Amino acid sequence: MTTENKNSASEQPLDDRAATRSVPPESDAFSQFMASNWAAPSHELPARAKVADFAAARRAKISSLFPGERLVLPAGPLKVRSNDCDYRFRPHSAFAHQTGMGLDHEPDAVLVFEPVEEGQGDHGSNHEVTLYFRPLAGRDSKMFYMDARYGEFWVGPRPTLASLSAEYGLRTADLSELEVAITKNAGNQALGGLRIRLVRDVDLNVDALVDTSRINTAVDLEESDKLDSELAVALSEARLIKDELEVENLRRSVDLTVEGFEEVIRALPAAVAHRRGERVVETAFFSKARTEGNELGYDTIAACGNNATILHWIRNNGTVDEGKLLLLDAGVEDDTLYTADVTRTFPVNGKFSEVQARAYNIVLAAADAAFEVAVPGRKFREVHEAAMKVLAKGLEDWGLLPVSAEVALSAEGGQHRRWMPHGTSHHLGLDVHDCAQAKKELYIDAVIEPGMVFTIEPGLYFKEEDLAIPAELRGIGIRIEDDVLITESGNENLSAALPRTVEGLEAWMAELSA
Ligand code: GLY
Ligand code: MN
Ligand code: MN
Repeated sequence: MTTENKNSASEQPLDDRAATRSVPPESDAFSQFMASNWAAPSHELPARAKVADFAAARRAKISSLFPGERLVLPAGPLKVRSNDCDYRFRPHSAFAHQTGMGLDHEPDAVLVFEPVEEGQGDHGSNHEVTLYFRPLAGRDSKMFYMDARYGEFWVGPRPTLASLSAEYGLRTADLSELEVAITKNAGNQALGGLRIRLVRDVDLNVDALVDTSRINTAVDLEESDKLDSELAVALSEARLIKDELEVENLRRSVDLTVEGFEEVIRALPAAVAHRRGERVVETAFFSKARTEGNELGYDTIAACGNNATILHWIRNNGTVDEGKLLLLDAGVEDDTLYTADVTRTFPVNGKFSEVQARAYNIVLAAADAAFEVAVPGRKFREVHEAAMKVLAKGLEDWGLLPVSAEVALSAEGGQHRRWMPHGTSHHLGLDVHDCAQAKKELYIDAVIEPGMVFTIEPGLYFKEEDLAIPAELRGIGIRIEDDVLITESGNENLSAALPRTVEGLEAWMAELSA
């Protein structure tokens, strides 16, 4: 077949279309030349990361819950953004928690807990844990320069089996050994097979591997779904109480977030001058997130005026106008993948109007009330209840509620929620909405414990089209969101470096604008 024929639309198969663009030569001379004359790679191993011991303790806890069972935790694959361009890689959070690996480590990797005699595993646990991944390919391999997803020429140096093992204190093995590692001796327990539990829907290839093994070994698929879910729940619940290193990571993310908010205040004149001022706000924050951290923990909400009443306004293409309030909800995810989640609402011109200040102070009082009960021994749900009580009362005093605050707060009421339909708190960590698979009794119905980190984020959202409120209130959206660490004696507001009061915000803005 000539080149011309190969490229004709009718004969060139779709999976060969990458060849439509230029590709490296295939001659032996080229391969040999590419494989030669590179400086010898360094064999120096990285130092053991501080997270290694913390991650080992996290794994030991999971191991204790599932003795005698094989656990499979994929990091997930690269995800296509379009055609042959991928998104920047971020591992699944359960994988990141259990390995301690941050940044973009490691596409397609899978952490396997192999059951051994009880107490005879790693650190006296019930499992020996191995990380299967695709190690760095040598410069004498075609992968080095041919593979746009994993080759060093394309994506830069990647870890070797030895380097990753040294850094994270994990047993490592090549990904090519994964299939055997997952499937050997697996099967119906009643028939003497080994039970597998999988974190599903993270890597479809691993799902298929496990499902095929289950089908081939007479394992009940419905029952397996339940077992897999229990593993996901356990991994989520394992993150409810943060260890010392996780708190350190969160502090760093919050501190970077505070700096990002300061950048935004400095950028306000440019935002007011731009036709898409909200984008100026968004990118001022993003600059801090990318230069000092890994990424944003979630898409920034940069919302001015009425846009601030749209809870998840992330289009951010509106103007930033003098006289209006700007709501900024943003968080830096640092290199360890822990994220902050902070909101401040402030006047674009640096001075709250009377009506803006009045609405703001209701939200602030609600937040303060929530802080009061966010202490060990109280229930998580009480945090929201405390905020709602104050909010309803503030709205009643302003004459905005069609019923009394008492009626609004009753099970038959809820009228105040027209202006604050979301929850007041969620756990925070590797995911902005962390621990989302935890059971109700360990989340909303749980007793608050030291080491928990969650947000307190009441708001009021008066939409432009809302005829139930006076015109002067329409187009005002306010949220105050802080990140709170529960301590032995109460709580610590990790985002306290950002002012929260009307006077504090005005003084802060004046100082940064001077
Ligand atoms: N930024 C998302 C949230 O506040 O929950
Ligand atoms: Mn939040
Ligand atoms: Mn938020």
